[in-house]
Amino acid sequence: MPQLRRLIALLAAFPLLSRALPATKYVETTPLPLVIWHGLGDSYQADGIMEVAQLAEEVNPGTYVYIIHLDDSDNGDRQATFFGNVTEQITQVCEQLASEPILSTAPAVNALGFSQGGQFLRAFVEKCNFPQVHNLVTMGSQHNGIFKFQSCDSSGDWVCRGAEALLRFGRWSDFVQSRLVPAQYFRDSNEYDSYLKHSNFLADINNEREEKNEAYKSNLLSLNRFGMFMFANDTVAVPKESAWFAEVNQLSGEITTLRERSLYTEDWLGLRALDEQGKLDFETIPGQHMELTDKLLTDVFTEYFGPVEVPDDVAALPPSLVKQGM
Ligand SMILES: *[C@@H]1O[C@H](CO)[C@@H](O)[C@H](O)[C@H]1NC(C)=O
Ligand SMILES: *[C@@H]1O[C@H](CO)[C@@H](O)[C@H](O)[C@H]1NC(C)=O
Repeated sequence: MPQLRRLIALLAAFPLLSRALPATKYVETTPLPLVIWHGLGDSYQADGIMEVAQLAEEVNPGTYVYIIHLDDSDNGDRQATFFGNVTEQITQVCEQLASEPILSTAPAVNALGFSQGGQFLRAFVEKCNFPQVHNLVTMGSQHNGIFKFQSCDSSGDWVCRGAEALLRFGRWSDFVQSRLVPAQYFRDSNEYDSYLKHSNFLADINNEREEKNEAYKSNLLSLNRFGMFMFANDTVAVPKESAWFAEVNQLSGEITTLRERSLYTEDWLGLRALDEQGKLDFETIPGQHMELTDKLLTDVFTEYFGPVEVPDDVAALPPSLVKQGM
């Protein structure tokens, strides 16, 4: 009976009964599950992503790794990185993670977002945050948007060309904002009014409109740590400083860092509070967009995704982290 076997495996992974036992000494058992969201043009079964998942398991043995996908087929999942309404995609991922048995019974999960997957995972935290995210790491993500669309290479990638063709309808049209994924995080401060009015995704999750969503802030504030990695020589995600929530003026080249922006000073998202608590990390990775080495990933996984230290305060503990000590 495969169902029974699954249940037993689940119970073994998260011993629910242990909470009922008398409290003496408690230790952590296993690292939190890790959720990964890949970037534009990638797919959940691609070799690169599978290798990252495997490495995460090797660095912190016992890590359950879950790779987010918007379609069961690899092709469909890749297409969904170009096409779709991101608001609806986030809703779909919220349902997917909440209904995944191991994730939804875990006390919390860690999250790793590559490129656009990073701002989408942040949106997951702001909008749903179930399962709750403990540490969030984003690499080369466009938290403050892009002001230039990536051009497709000349290799005859029809999915990418189709996406490019959509732009003919105008980046701020509802037609494009509901269909072309990168358009939904396009942000040019020289077109700020159009952006505020029409952006289907970024203006909302960055709380840039007059009416602020307090849940976005309180959810983001529940992070234990938020590591933002920027690729030093990124010419693919433009501007690269978007990985740190900086605003770059396309015309003058002037950079306004996160700490100088209203987003921070008025703390629309809780980033200032996180920063003041030492939970917001601005990190740099040498090299081009998504140029990652095993060494770097190993360091990051050790730093952010290792076994959680369990405090003495047992009452505050989620059941699945609790195990009787010796
Ligand atoms: C995207 O989807 C959401 C939820 O269904 C909807 O409210 C919104 O209007 C859509 N965006 C556009 C630009 O059509
Ligand atoms: C990367 O950028 C740094 C400074 O930003 C520069 O000194 C270096 O030459 C660049 N490396 C490459 C490979 O472009």
